[in-house]
Amino acid sequence: MKRLGVNIDHIATIRNARGENHPNIYKAAKYVLKCGANSITIHLREDRRHITDNDLKTISSNKKIPLNLELAANRNMLKIALKRKPNYVCIVPEKRNEITTEGGLNLKKNLSKLKNIVYKLKDNRIRTSLFINPNIRDIYISKDIGADCVELHTGKISRLIKNDKNIKNEYSKINKCSKLAHKLGLEVHAGHGMDYDTAKLLSKIDEIKEFNIGHFIVGESIFFGLKKTIKKFLSICK
Ligand code: PXP
Repeated sequence: MKRLGVNIDHIATIRNARGENHPNIYKAAKYVLKCGANSITIHLREDRRHITDNDLKTISSNKKIPLNLELAANRNMLKIALKRKPNYVCIVPEKRNEITTEGGLNLKKNLSKLKNIVYKLKDNRIRTSLFINPNIRDIYISKDIGADCVELHTGKISRLIKNDKNIKNEYSKINKCSKLAHKLGLEVHAGHGMDYDTAKLLSKIDEIKEFNIGHFIVGESIFFGLKKTIKKFLSICK
């Protein structure tokens, strides 16, 4: 059984379209858990385009909500994380003009900064994950940085599946990286662009312990509701 984390950023996007408080993010976080999800993911972006500081404050103040906070690797975000103390942090790369997180972290370029941030988060008992592309070198570097987990970027394989293209190489990379990371003692997560088909395929890799899924769940819930959509993912995760 894999855990399912639901990213609710896109619910905040709908809320922000009207500048009011509907749909309410705190209510959404609680409802997603009631539907059976294992945790909530929110990404506090530097431009605050969806999740706001107040959303983070409200959700993190309820310690019954298992919260995974995605954030960029910088001093300001670290300060916020240490103040709000989410259960988990996933460090992600962030570019101001991107529509969504386009790729994994450049670990080599940011080595000492990441080491420092991971050390401080772990020192505050926050489980820390690095969002990386599925390549072997980055698994070894993640271990060296001292992360608890790696989250493998599944954007490429998701796109290949959606376009009916050959997935053999990408699947093999994700599989090999998952096995190596597990062997090195890193917990393996997967996320980005995932839908039912990607989840079914990646469910075959035992070493992956958690999926983090957002856009597809919120989109699909327009037709079937959050409850049915989350339940369907949970049955795939089994
Ligand atoms: N995991 C990480 C680290 C992400 O940055 C995102 C996107 O915010 C997701 C998972 C979820 O991606 P999607 O919304 O495409 O399911």
